[in-house]
Amino acid sequence: MKILLASSEVFPFSKTGGLADMVAALARALADAGHEARVVTPLYRGIREKFPAIKRVDWQFHLPMGDHYADGGLWELDVASGLKIYFVEQPDYFNRAGIYQENNCSYPDNDERYIFLSKCVVHLARYLTWKPEVVHVHDWQVGLVPALILQQKNEGWGNPTPTCLTIHNLAYQGVFPEEAFALTNLPPSFFNPEGAEFFGLLNCLKAGIAYTDTITTVSPRYAREITTEEFGCGLDGVLRRRAQNLTGILNGVDYSEWNTTKNPHLFKPYSVSRLAGKNAGKAELQKLLGLPVNKSTPLFGTISRLAEQKGVDIQLGALAEMLNADMQFCLLGSGAPEFENGYRELAKRFPDKVAVRFGYDEKLAHRIEAGCDFFLMPSRFEPCGLNQMYSLRYGTIPIVRATGGLDDSVADFFEVRHQATGIKFYEYSARALAKAIRKALAIYQEPKLISQYRQAGMKADYSWEASVAKYLNVYEKLLEKQ
Ligand code: ADP
Ligand code: GLC
Repeated sequence: MKILLASSEVFPFSKTGGLADMVAALARALADAGHEARVVTPLYRGIREKFPAIKRVDWQFHLPMGDHYADGGLWELDVASGLKIYFVEQPDYFNRAGIYQENNCSYPDNDERYIFLSKCVVHLARYLTWKPEVVHVHDWQVGLVPALILQQKNEGWGNPTPTCLTIHNLAYQGVFPEEAFALTNLPPSFFNPEGAEFFGLLNCLKAGIAYTDTITTVSPRYAREITTEEFGCGLDGVLRRRAQNLTGILNGVDYSEWNTTKNPHLFKPYSVSRLAGKNAGKAELQKLLGLPVNKSTPLFGTISRLAEQKGVDIQLGALAEMLNADMQFCLLGSGAPEFENGYRELAKRFPDKVAVRFGYDEKLAHRIEAGCDFFLMPSRFEPCGLNQMYSLRYGTIPIVRATGGLDDSVADFFEVRHQATGIKFYEYSARALAKAIRKALAIYQEPKLISQYRQAGMKADYSWEASVAKYLNVYEKLLEKQ
């Protein structure tokens, strides 16, 4: 099958979160399964320098953006057999210091930047000699693609290519003032409450939900959650209407990236049968972070965007309560300044127990995953979450709130007893999280139990094979409908 994917970020070229990991891994898994996957993404600053094998393609975009035109170029990279990445070059839009924002302030023209990207995707789908059978778009940044493709049919361009939209996070919808709609050059009929309009504003994700042929999201539980008012972010009604076409597919893990045996980021390799390297990694991590090097003190870690979603408030509350116990905590994160300050304060209060690092650091992320005993993910909501699955493979026991993909990917003692892989808590409160941490401290005193959890977690298999089969099933159904 030929699948054209589109995403505003793709690892290792650009990344702000799990979206980049997921799209890269899905595309690779499709190629590994013998299909042809091509991914369209922006050429952000620095990509060409970092990946000199990227080649210019003889291709010019000259696309209407409201009452003017925008031009762009195209670059490509063959990543593996069956897998090509297309980079859309538009220096005004994409050659910037950040991806979506600078100094915690979103770029004011994100509507224009991503409407342009969406138009380039549609243009490629139409004019490439390589004809995609499915166009698979991810999140709001390319949410307008299905509407733009449908419009081609209205303009007499024949049957439109079937589209699939994956929602990675319903909380980000790409909402802009009504005037932004003019940049799409779509007829006004698309701007209605059944379509792209959301209370008088343009909503790019809603447009995707309304006009795409099929919708997926990144875990079965999140698929159920988003049709409820509590998790629907105002779009639960629209999603309920499309419930027949909504499938939850758990993300997989790219174990060629996230593994403990052949990983250039780690101090020492280790495996389920040889855990000495994990202990050494813990000591090295404690040293690196300036924490007392102590094997018997349980080390908790978190790697996260510091956003409302991630449960920062209850984490700060629970840690303040629990850090009088014999434990250490480290954080790697970046995001809202008030949340960063919260962790800074915590580190000041418990200087020999808490280490915090702000910014984006791939290497440190792997080292924290490997060196910690427990990984904390107390999310308010979590569409899938990848770090808990990375933790499982790294023998680091995840402590998660039972929501979205966290609930789907971690098994608690009360669910499976001897096959438990992590600790779950349910109520969104500092108290409930503190109780879960207390449970972890108790487990830590029982080497046999710890080893049972680790074994079960490290053996759990979240490779892409199973998930890719489910995506292929979704694509095949689309083609049958044609
Ligand atoms: P989300 O996409 O909501 O941020 P996920 O758990 O799906 O959450 O994915 C987060 C990804 O981003 C993981 O690969 C994680 O390791 C990475 N990540 C988050 N913050 C940082 C950071 N400060 N430095 C390095 N990697 C980070
Ligand atoms: C989003 C979600 C996260 C998910 C990721 C990849 O960023 O917040 O839960 O794992 O997308 O699908």
